[in-house]
Amino acid sequence: MVLARAILAALCATYPAFAYHNGLDITLFRRDLNSTDGGTYGDSTQWPAPLANGGKAWAAAFAKANATAAQMTVEELANITSGVIGLCSGETGAVTRLGIPQLCLHDGPIGARGVHGSSQFPAGVTVAATWDRKLIYARARAMGQEFRDQGVHIALAPVTGGPLGRTPLDGRAWEGFFADPYACGEASYQSVAGLTDAGVATVAKHWIAYEQETSRNLYFDYDGVSQAAVQLPISSNLDDLTMHELYMWSFAEAVRAGTSHVMCSYNRINDTHSCSNAKGLNNLLKSELNFQGGVISDWGGQWNSVPSAENGLDIAMPGEGFLAALGDFWGSTLADLINNGTVSEVLVRDKAVRLLTPYYYLGQDIDPLPSFVYNTIGSPTLNATSGYRNVQKPSSAELIKEIGSASVTLLKNTGSLPLKHPKRIAVLGNDATNNVLGQNACGLGNSACDLTNLNGTLTTGGGSGSALAPYIITPLDALLKRAIGDSAEIAAVVANSNTTIGAEDAIASLLPDADVTLVFLNRYSAEGADVPDLEIAGDGDNLMDLAVTYSSNVVVVIHTTGVVNIEKWVDNPNVTAILVAYLPGQEAGSGLVPVLYGDIAPSGKLPWTWGKSVDDYPPNGVTYTDAYSPQANFTEGVFIDYRWFDQKGIAPRYEFGYGLSYTTFGYSNLIVDEGRWAKDDTSVMETAEPFEMFDGKNSLYDVLFTVLATITNTGNVTGSEAAQLYISIPGDNQPVRQLRGFDKIKDLAPGDSAIASFPVRRKDVSSWSVVDQYWFVPSGSFVISVGGSSRNLPLNTTWTPQ
Ligand code: NOJ
Repeated sequence: MVLARAILAALCATYPAFAYHNGLDITLFRRDLNSTDGGTYGDSTQWPAPLANGGKAWAAAFAKANATAAQMTVEELANITSGVIGLCSGETGAVTRLGIPQLCLHDGPIGARGVHGSSQFPAGVTVAATWDRKLIYARARAMGQEFRDQGVHIALAPVTGGPLGRTPLDGRAWEGFFADPYACGEASYQSVAGLTDAGVATVAKHWIAYEQETSRNLYFDYDGVSQAAVQLPISSNLDDLTMHELYMWSFAEAVRAGTSHVMCSYNRINDTHSCSNAKGLNNLLKSELNFQGGVISDWGGQWNSVPSAENGLDIAMPGEGFLAALGDFWGSTLADLINNGTVSEVLVRDKAVRLLTPYYYLGQDIDPLPSFVYNTIGSPTLNATSGYRNVQKPSSAELIKEIGSASVTLLKNTGSLPLKHPKRIAVLGNDATNNVLGQNACGLGNSACDLTNLNGTLTTGGGSGSALAPYIITPLDALLKRAIGDSAEIAAVVANSNTTIGAEDAIASLLPDADVTLVFLNRYSAEGADVPDLEIAGDGDNLMDLAVTYSSNVVVVIHTTGVVNIEKWVDNPNVTAILVAYLPGQEAGSGLVPVLYGDIAPSGKLPWTWGKSVDDYPPNGVTYTDAYSPQANFTEGVFIDYRWFDQKGIAPRYEFGYGLSYTTFGYSNLIVDEGRWAKDDTSVMETAEPFEMFDGKNSLYDVLFTVLATITNTGNVTGSEAAQLYISIPGDNQPVRQLRGFDKIKDLAPGDSAIASFPVRRKDVSSWSVVDQYWFVPSGSFVISVGGSSRNLPLNTTWTPQ
């Protein structure tokens, strides 16, 4: 036991998930529950596991996978579907005699986690704010190349709407994209496509309704002698309509794009563990969405051997990795269960096929990957660095910078921006500069940061969704470079103004003489914990007090994982501009500064609603309870984020889709072109989602009509505009409007016009019928609106289905 605890302490240090469990012996506890699985969604007789058939795109690879799996012994089948010890976040067992190596599964959504010699890409939330499908694809393609070059077969990405953003308090919503199913679906589709094109397998995660970190895992108190007060993971309780219209939507897009795998989440769904949830995995994912790849458990998300095998789990992670401390339920146990007739061999062969099909499809057998050389978060027994490989590329750095610029969202500007060659510049805030202990001083998972200390500029959130930064071009670095060209003076106070003796005096003497004061603020969050409130970190409030007292030209830049409270100073006339730069990755300063100076007009828009207070959002966003079986009731249904604000008539500070530019855009000439019917040509894989009037020819993803609008640059500088399409679907209890299209019009010169085009698919104008269990187009009049944000919609018309 002493040894076990020492090992677990080491795991805590190297792998943050352990810290969430107080570093205790979770395996013992999990095994106690092996035979039980609560809730009503765990019944595989009602929802049996469908066998894969390879689907539309994977026929040849499926045949190959079948041929290989047919030759495997029961022991080999069990080995290949279970985690083994290795250097990556997780690895599957090898079958060497058939040429199948250990497959490397590695985090995460912003690049190869913890691996030196890899880029730190902008976070999902950042690329979402560009509203640019091409940049979303390009990021995933470049990231995929780095994964492949580092020897990662299966990238644990993208975060596909789990979390989706039910609450602004969620600690890891920044890993994903938009708090909207349609936009999140578009981003997930592009991300799967980009990673796949680079030759790595994808893992759409976390399936499903994974909307809080609090109570995500089991928890128990330990008094030094025994464990007690056990708590199950939170149960996300939601209805069928909300499941389909909100939480499944983006996963459907990932499946259509051909995601290789899906990761089941830590939370329970309607009381049944996600990774042994027959309704969720066998029925919704594998039958309705016709998903042909493998379901991989989140690390420690598996709770039992038999129900998970029968209810849809295919690959158990990390198995014996991490010294089996996260619950090693399969491996030889699964072989025994097959041999004694408890679990069907056919079913386990299907799991092997689901793992191998993407492997063959991606050609990873023909063009083998180099071996993964760098170990940072694997088993402590293998914790030494075993090699170094640098796969960074100048083109990736350029892309990171481009996304940085294109995502910057201008919230307020009374005329101070763009900067007009200021000669005297004051810079405040530790977020302008580097961490004095080095840019990766917060630890490999970036999780060891004290939330209120001076960590330097924030480029990523923390946890498995982080990546090491090979370097950081800080805002101050880039400002200095730029200011030299103007022969400017630039002085920065980056000490903690709350605690550093002399800091307030320095600010008081610096600011009155400055032409402009740039204040850098941030708010960090990480996997494993939700944020307690929306407050800005550290000395942010104090800095703002000082800034508005001593300067009449304060420009604020915020790096953040989500919404923060800016109400105390947002309307202060001395605050002349506010920008949000999210989590930009390693090129933080080089993406931002060209926007500050007007080389590039800002064109980012908010991927979620910026409320004035946490009370503006649906109540009980995070459920805190000591109950043995914690329950999160999603009583708001589909009304999250802007749908909630619209339904309740709450005025946000800045609405979903909002963002200013240095120019202005006019919207005109709205056309609903029904002549542009088009057969679905975007489904790499076809779902089997039922819909009304299915005639064997039409698909849920056929384009029914295309909306066109003319966008004109009515200002004085070149700029880009994310035009947005919203649809009000007729019917009781429908959201006021829902985003159903966006088109980024790029680099429009003053006076020029371009046509924004929004293809609207059958699903985009459908509702889910809980009674009939299909998608249907409601009768009545649909309001179609186009504009620059969810509350700035100058063009409106109606459409009525024939
Ligand atoms: C837990 C996280 O929830 C998941 O996203 C990650 O991929 C695994 N750990 C592996 O690190």
